[in-house]
Amino acid sequence: MTDLDQGAEIYTMVSPWRGAEGARSMDLRYLDRDPRSARRPYFEPVLQFAAGHEKSEGALRLLDVGCANGAFIHYVLTRKPNWHTSGIDVVPELIDAAAASFPSAEFAVGNICEPDSLPAGQFDVVTVLTLASHFDTLDAWLTHVIGLVAQGGMALIYGPLNPSPVDLVCRMRYAHKGAEWLPGWNVLSQQTYDSFLRGKANSWTYHYLPVADLGYPLDDPADELSSRVVPARDGQRLGNSSGLTYQMSCIEIHV
Ligand SMILES: C[S@@+](CC[C@H](N)C(=O)[O-])C[C@H]1O[C@@H](n2cnc3c(N)ncnc32)[C@H](O)[C@@H]1O
Repeated sequence: MTDLDQGAEIYTMVSPWRGAEGARSMDLRYLDRDPRSARRPYFEPVLQFAAGHEKSEGALRLLDVGCANGAFIHYVLTRKPNWHTSGIDVVPELIDAAAASFPSAEFAVGNICEPDSLPAGQFDVVTVLTLASHFDTLDAWLTHVIGLVAQGGMALIYGPLNPSPVDLVCRMRYAHKGAEWLPGWNVLSQQTYDSFLRGKANSWTYHYLPVADLGYPLDDPADELSSRVVPARDGQRLGNSSGLTYQMSCIEIHV
């Protein structure tokens, strides 16, 4: 019997796709990372966009949706000590770890697709960092993000975005027996965001970030699904070992 025979079910004709909303077991890996040193390449530009808020010098209220172990909250706290920071995540273990690491911030378990699980208040800035690409549709989560933004505030959505009018919805898995199909790499188009945001937000801007300058790995990381810079004429693309490449944008949405 060959290895292929043993792994035959990986060729199943029945779609084993899981729903897009909710936790991925792979995100428990954030528990193994130190949130004080786990600085991601996009933290600095996202904070700069947030600092464009007129309350930036005061007690600005920031909520990070999908905060994992609180690394971005830590990055903000160390640079904007006056800001009032909060984080939500759907994984309770991550929220426990974040709350233990950063007692001066507020953390709660919340699912951005479930309005009843979300904080009651509103925030001047709501950040959603590398989470939008988990969801197959915008209405499942973006309506709730906008609802969390106070009048005059902004949402900052960082992740893959297609400047061309084509939407990609996908699942990926490590190609071994029993591996779970994972959401996380959908690339919706700017045009789809435009259609959704019309009438729901005052204005919005797409900032395509020069990923080659942000500090993403240039070599293949040990994890085949992790993003690395992929050579491209415009130097703007990330990719992983699936072969998919994508541009990264921070969408600044004013409410
Ligand atoms: C790819 S990680 C990004 C973590 C962090 N924002 C960053 O940029 O490093 C996505 C995070 O969103 C959380 N998440 C997934 N689905 C969620 C949901 N429906 N509501 C809230 N958080 C969610 C995951 O548990 C995970 O911590």
